[in-house]
Amino acid sequence: MAEQPLYLHYAEAGHGMPVLLVHGFPFDHRIWDAQLAALGATYHVIAPDLRGFGESAAPDTGYNMDDLAGDLVRLLDRLGIERAVWVGHSMGGYVTLAALRRWPERVSAAVFVGSHAQPDSHEKKIQRESSAELVMKNGVSDTAFTMMGAIFADEVDRQGDMAQRIYDMMVNAAPQAVAGALRGMAERPDSRDVARRLAIPALVIAGEDDEAVGAELTDELAALIPGARQVIIPGAGHMPMVEQPDAFADSLRTFLEQLPGAR
Ligand code: MLT
Repeated sequence: MAEQPLYLHYAEAGHGMPVLLVHGFPFDHRIWDAQLAALGATYHVIAPDLRGFGESAAPDTGYNMDDLAGDLVRLLDRLGIERAVWVGHSMGGYVTLAALRRWPERVSAAVFVGSHAQPDSHEKKIQRESSAELVMKNGVSDTAFTMMGAIFADEVDRQGDMAQRIYDMMVNAAPQAVAGALRGMAERPDSRDVARRLAIPALVIAGEDDEAVGAELTDELAALIPGARQVIIPGAGHMPMVEQPDAFADSLRTFLEQLPGAR
């Protein structure tokens, strides 16, 4: 029997060079709202919900980084897009690295936001597995609550509207997707070889105060990719696209403008 295509929800704006915005864990496409508005005037911006997140279908399995990247390649197929600039936030960066390993011809340029190319340490894998078990037992709110402590710069009001929106996204994610993505991240390979071989334009963006993914990891990624540019966003933690949306959009725009096919 033919496999049913998985329903993947996405938001879309504008025309021109395709730019695919890939959210991190355990968020959804709405982290990119300001970027859809800012970049949609010039580019064809597509912001999907990865499987199990936001409004996309949430199957019981299929949450490793190759599965998530494969969903996005099929989405590009459906939209008739051969190559896009992939912008991956954190886990979205791991998904982008998986795409670069398996479907490099679908990526015209890569932007990594608060992301890196190392695999999980042994301790991190154990921690992910116990979080996955807890999520399946108790739901996602404990994980969401713990993450709230680590993802924003100090000056962000944890009770403010923006932080509340992010928290709501996290608790809205399907438990099987949160557990599946935790296990999927634990299984991901070392992608430093992919980064070293990259022969497309690349940008590494990091919030200056990112405690979730430290500067040593984002700096390493920028150093590994031949010719990569790096931008550090002041006043931002792990979520620069929502903490400092204007500075983030300016950095992205400056990079996109210089790509062949940008105009
Ligand atoms: C993310 O924001 O996607 C996650 O913090 C990544 C991770 O846990 O490695």
